[in-house]
Amino acid sequence: MGLAFFMPPGIPRVCGPAKLAVPVDRNARLSYVSAVKKLEIITLPDRKLRAVSAPVERIDDEARRFMDDMLAAMYEAPGIGLAAIQVGVPRRIVVLDVAKREEEGSEAHPMFLVNPEILEVSDDRAVREEGCLSIPEYYAEVERPAGVRVRYLDREGKRQEMEATGILATCLQHEIDHLDGKLFIDYLSKLKRDMVIKRFAKQSRQDAKAKAL
Ligand code: NI
Repeated sequence: MGLAFFMPPGIPRVCGPAKLAVPVDRNARLSYVSAVKKLEIITLPDRKLRAVSAPVERIDDEARRFMDDMLAAMYEAPGIGLAAIQVGVPRRIVVLDVAKREEEGSEAHPMFLVNPEILEVSDDRAVREEGCLSIPEYYAEVERPAGVRVRYLDREGKRQEMEATGILATCLQHEIDHLDGKLFIDYLSKLKRDMVIKRFAKQSRQDAKAKAL
């Protein structure tokens, strides 16, 4: 059943097997590859960002390919974490790589988390500046528990548990929030949050106008 099973109906098949927009030149393999649509990250005020994502029932090759595509989109952005809903797919999948950020020039260390759950949070809290690929170029300090214990399925569908502190703990909480339709601006004062939402709504209207011209 593959993708049809993995993607609920009515969701744009952004990660689907390519429906080619251009005719394939059978002699040139490269043109086929470049015609495959890359995952696009959605931004405010897209209402899909408020959707509650559904659990993944089966981690098959299709799901793994989707996770790899998510990771590629995250690196390209560039970002350190991405939830599936940020590419318009309401499934409980998160990809992360905080290694590059923590140590300049360090190697990639991607993590794939399917159906992640926060089991425990620490009493001590930490304030960290957060940003989000779906709220571009806006950063604000957010206070969250400094440590978390998380249970999830890895890329192979194996049950895993991890304890995290530091930037990884922040990133895990930020991404898992996305799966419940929650954004980091929800932790800010109503005044600040409304300002951000207004700014992105205005920008979106201006973009639509520019497109119509
Ligand atoms: Ni985010």
